Order: sequence, then structure tokens, then C-alpha cells
Amino acid sequence: MKVRLHQFLSRTGQFSSKREVKEAIWAGEVTVAGSVIKDIAFQFNANTKEVHWKGNMLRLPGLHRTYVLNKPRGVICSRLNRQERSLGKRSVFELLRTFVDDSTYDRMLTVGRLDEQTTGLLILTTDGHLVHRIASPDSKIEKAYAVKTDLPPSEEALDALRKGVEIELEENGVVQAYQTLPAQVVVEEDGTVVLTISEGKKRQVRRMFATLGYEVIDLHRRSIGGLNLGLLNLAEGASLEMDERLLCQSIFNES
Ligand code: URA
Repeated sequence: MKVRLHQFLSRTGQFSSKREVKEAIWAGEVTVAGSVIKDIAFQFNANTKEVHWKGNMLRLPGLHRTYVLNKPRGVICSRLNRQERSLGKRSVFELLRTFVDDSTYDRMLTVGRLDEQTTGLLILTTDGHLVHRIASPDSKIEKAYAVKTDLPPSEEALDALRKGVEIELEENGVVQAYQTLPAQVVVEEDGTVVLTISEGKKRQVRRMFATLGYEVIDLHRRSIGGLNLGLLNLAEGASLEMDERLLCQSIFNES
């Protein structure tokens, strides 16, 4: 939906009066999608175009924010409780702390979870609908994991992973057998197994290997749908804010 530039600026809470808004625009301090705009009534779509004032990106309060993170090892995907804090644990939310305001920080959710020892692609967002769209069991989005095991898996083990294996899952204190869906398995030259699955049961990848007698010693999520961490150039622990529309286009391969 389109909004006029002076109305957008007034709603950001950065200006103390309408006069100040207009003067900032007339002085050429405001850009929309990289172009200086001096027309206070200029109309644009605030969901798709970035507005900068003196180099700082401005947003409307209440708009959702979404980040992709290259999660390091030893960081958990939940808020820290007192005990975890006293044990010196770290949380993915803290990695974003310095980039977001308090309200955003409080509303931030992870899209699914990675284990404490798993590294790689994790999405965080304030938009619960987005969480559901990507992480619900019905979404069937493929996630690719690079897996290193204690011993090289045999051909039989790789075939079993492809067909689906029986793992144990605990739900509400009850342990049940679960047959995993068919998966794609590719072994790279250095022995890394790339396992692509379209479901996300708790500790699924580790359990799939464990049931075949292998221990996962390194687990890294490379991609979620068409969103590939390798293309984002993010160092471990680094995050990148992404426009939700572009993120969905990547994940769901939408044009
Ligand atoms: N499967 C696992 O076992 N652990 C993860 O962190 C992600 C998928």
C-alpha cells in the first residue's frame, strides 16, 4: 500500500513536528530507494522501498523485521532462563540484540530451531505468520544439512537414509517410533554427507544417523528451500536483515 513521504516520516517517531519533517525533505536529507526526494507528497510503497534520513534507515513502528543468521556452535535457539544465564550459555537472540530496538527484540521468534551444537542457517522474525508458513509440518520445505559422522557411512546406511529410517520421538513424555520420509543423500568428496529432508522432527538428523549406528560430530544447515547460506556471505555469528518478500521469494522459489 502506498503512503505519502511526509506521512511516513511523521509516523516514524523521529521528528518532533510536521515542520521538521518538511524541512528534512526540502533539504534533500531523505532518500527513497536510493534517490533524494524533495516532494513531501511523494507516494511510495513502504513495504518494498527503503527510506533513509541522513544515512539511517527509517521504519514504521509495528512493521515486521526478519533476519537470517549464520548460527555458531554452542548457542541455543531459546530465550535464556536464569539457570542458563548462570551457566554462561548464549542465545541466538542475544546475537541480534545490538541491531534491534527493545520492542523488536521482545517479539522476535526463531523459525524452527537448531540444536545447541548445530551451526548454519537460521531465520528469526517478528512475524508469526512467516514462522508458520516456513516451519509448519505442512510446508514441506526442503532443508539441506551438511553432516560429518564419526565413521564414513556405508552404502547400505546411505540407502536406508534415502528410503527413510525408524527413529524414536518423544511427545508429551511418550516415546514413539517414527518412520522418516524419503530423503536426498549426496556424499561429497571430503566425505561430508548432504542430507536434504522436508520435515523437521526434534533432532531428526542426529537421530537418523544414530539409529544406523553413526554419531554426528558436525551438523550444519546449508539451506532452507531456495535460500542458501553459502550465497549470503555471512560469517559465523553474523546476521543480515532481509525484506520478508524477498526472503519468501528465495525460500519458495517464487518469481
Ligand atoms: N536435525 C538435528 O538433529 N539437529 C538440528 O539442529 C537440525 C536438524
